[in-house]
Amino acid sequence: MQRIYLDHNATTPVHPAVADTMAAALREEFGNPSSVHHFGQRAKAVVDQARSTVAALIGADPSEVVFTSGGTESDNFAIRGTAEARERTGRRRLIASAIEHEAVLNTLKPLATRGWETTLLPVGETGIVSPDDLRAALRDDTTLVSVMHANNEIGTIQPIAELARVARARGALFHTDAVQSAGKIPIDVRTLGVDLLSISAHKFYGPKGVGAIWIRRGLRLLPILTGGKHERNRRAGTENVAGIVGMGTAAEIARARMADEHARVAALRDRLEEGILRAVPGTVVNGARTPRVPNTTNISFDRIEAESLLIALDLDGIAVSTGSACSSGTLEPSHVLKAMGFPPHRTQNSIRFSLGIGNTEADVDRVIAVLPGIVEKLRSLTRTPVRA
Ligand SMILES: Cc1ncc(COP(=O)(O)O)c(C=O)c1O
Repeated sequence: MQRIYLDHNATTPVHPAVADTMAAALREEFGNPSSVHHFGQRAKAVVDQARSTVAALIGADPSEVVFTSGGTESDNFAIRGTAEARERTGRRRLIASAIEHEAVLNTLKPLATRGWETTLLPVGETGIVSPDDLRAALRDDTTLVSVMHANNEIGTIQPIAELARVARARGALFHTDAVQSAGKIPIDVRTLGVDLLSISAHKFYGPKGVGAIWIRRGLRLLPILTGGKHERNRRAGTENVAGIVGMGTAAEIARARMADEHARVAALRDRLEEGILRAVPGTVVNGARTPRVPNTTNISFDRIEAESLLIALDLDGIAVSTGSACSSGTLEPSHVLKAMGFPPHRTQNSIRFSLGIGNTEADVDRVIAVLPGIVEKLRSLTRTPVRA
């Protein structure tokens, strides 16, 4: 059976050129980048080269890029590193959006039990955070605001430049989790006007277990991993040289192909979305359709349990998701759709289709062809009429 992968927001396949540079680095660059001898200096050189290409992907200076173990660590570092560096200033308030990834939401929770006040900004049906809501939530004791650039479940893009301006006008720092936007849409840290930005290699055809955080020059964070003086004293631990090299290659490819791939994938996503809405009654797109990352659509199927549809599609060779990968396998309603104010049935009947590099029109047409039959069959097992 020819399988179709439509779950690129969970992770992407490693690009062959990335695998090649990683294999070469594993074989040849085994030195420890902290060592002063030839082998160490070679490893340091390839890490620094990757730092430059990763920096170029986000319009940053290489000296401001710190490599981490992925998006989760970058988010943790941004929030805990800032909070702990500023704990004594009396500014003990943190703000995030209610639709952040668990890497942000679950990092706020332990801080709340330590006396930090945390506020989650609401989003309406659009899934977009309003600068006015942020303005109203900000107080003089707010240390940090964290709002994601693009949402992993519905793909909506937040007005980060405006939100960051509002936050910084009240003296708060601004972090954005750009894990789902990096490599898909242009990012320039200066234009966004943020202080901290998190990215992860495996979302743009790089390897898993490596990411980066951009820290605006001059900003002090307490390290969350303590030990040696790696990464300019910001993140201890011998660097994952091959992973970092792979991330560098992935960043280079993403930057070079972004404009073409954006147009190609957006056309495929729109074809899929319109095809499904036309072919399957009782379907609706969740969240604002613009601005959105080009590869994502999240669709609600009335009178369908999303997990059953996911399994039926998988049996037909089509891989999709019911929302964030971290909660798949459980019947937890999506916290994103819940925050958007949808009733329980709608938070449990939605499927995320996230397209990527290998997808073709033929893939999209096959999904549109098989979906109506699968949905009809699943609906025939329940009695309530379809609410179109
Ligand atoms: C928006 C967002 N932030 C953070 C993460 C976590 O990144 P990683 O898997 O590299 O830890 C993800 C991954 O699903 C994500 O989608």
